[in-house]
Amino acid sequence: TGYITLDTGFKNTGATTSSITFLDGEQGILKYRGYPIEELAEKSTFIEVAYLLIYGELPTPDQIKDFQYQISRHTLIHEDMKKFFDAFPHNAHPMGQLCSLVSSLSAFSPESLNPSPSKSDTNLAVIKLLAKMPTIVSWIYKGSLGEPFIYPLNKMDYISNFVHMTFGRVTEEVEIDPVVVDALDKLLILHADHEQNCSTSTVRIVGSSGSNLYASISAGISALWGPLHGGANQAVIEMLELIRNDGGDTEKWINKAKDKDDNFRLMGFGHRVYKNFDPRAKIIKKACDNVLEKLGINDPVLEIAKKLEDAALHDPYFVERKLYPNVDFYSGIIYRALGFPTEMFTVLFALGRLPGWIAQWLELRDQKEPIGRPRQVYTGETDRVYVPISERK
Ligand code: CMC
Repeated sequence: TGYITLDTGFKNTGATTSSITFLDGEQGILKYRGYPIEELAEKSTFIEVAYLLIYGELPTPDQIKDFQYQISRHTLIHEDMKKFFDAFPHNAHPMGQLCSLVSSLSAFSPESLNPSPSKSDTNLAVIKLLAKMPTIVSWIYKGSLGEPFIYPLNKMDYISNFVHMTFGRVTEEVEIDPVVVDALDKLLILHADHEQNCSTSTVRIVGSSGSNLYASISAGISALWGPLHGGANQAVIEMLELIRNDGGDTEKWINKAKDKDDNFRLMGFGHRVYKNFDPRAKIIKKACDNVLEKLGINDPVLEIAKKLEDAALHDPYFVERKLYPNVDFYSGIIYRALGFPTEMFTVLFALGRLPGWIAQWLELRDQKEPIGRPRQVYTGETDRVYVPISERK
């Protein structure tokens, strides 16, 4: 069957060509469609960046107005879907709920099941997903609290509407804090795409078999859940809490992370591609100080995070292996300051990554890529003699 190159973890295998996101891990450069991440995080809104990733260009004022209008027409989810939220136990992990709910959207959008959908049907699925995801995420949160769901208010912009549904109350008007909206805008932009990472590759490989957009994104959400990927943002805060409750001895935990007989890893550190500072981590660290100060929050785990970072950056183990803080190291501290519980962090990552997954799925279809089907190097038994069950010992 020919020669097979073995590359477990696809460390050096390009699976596609792509014109969406550029990443130089040696230099620490990240660009969406040619625009540096630093500039987008500073000057753009999340919804503009979503448009950029999906359609390839920054929108004009008319285009963004129309895009937001289209999204606003689909922010409600089918009333029957409420039964799903009721059926989950209150303490069910939000990521488990999210992938089920996103997959189930296909049941309410039969047009998405057409194996060769028209351009307008595909665009409808894109708009519906962008529109319904914030509603689903907010309702998962409300469900976890046992509070009534808050319906979307379409006069609001994308992020404000999400904040309204998440932190609003049916019994009183809750003011939307612009500090919270700005911080979320920035964080979601920083998470919006990251070329062929584990969840994006999953979305592409599932989409390559002809699966619909909802099913493909749902698979991406499952891939994101793992602690080595998006789940790291939850794991970081849990680690920082653990260190704090253990007396805050960061050196002890750095030594544990270095110990090859210990499974403990410094969560939020290291990256498959970045062998330099993750540019997203740099922006988030600054934003973290800024947001906490503006909200008047003094979080003791921030102190621990900074001590850990400093110790690791000066430790030969981390230096030699080029391990730097990644996007997940400081993001959780901001999410927490905004009022989100730890279990919601990875769901927020998914909300941010959604436009990237969509753009990559569309690109796969446009490029008419073949079904993804890696090979293997077989290491099992070869010729064995079959023994009938009555004779097996
Ligand atoms: N703590 C301690 N040692 C580490 C860490 C860490 N966080 N990360 C890597 N190493 C060591 C690893 O043990 C290995 O050492 P050696 O060469 O002696 O065997 C070396 O560094 C290379 O690591 P690797 O596991 O071969 O690298 P990888 O590219 O397969 O894994 C990673 C990348 C991100 C999974 C890994 O760095 C890690 O587990 N980090 C902690 C989890 C985390 O923060 N994940 C979020 C990633 S960024 C955002 C996202 O994708 O969602």
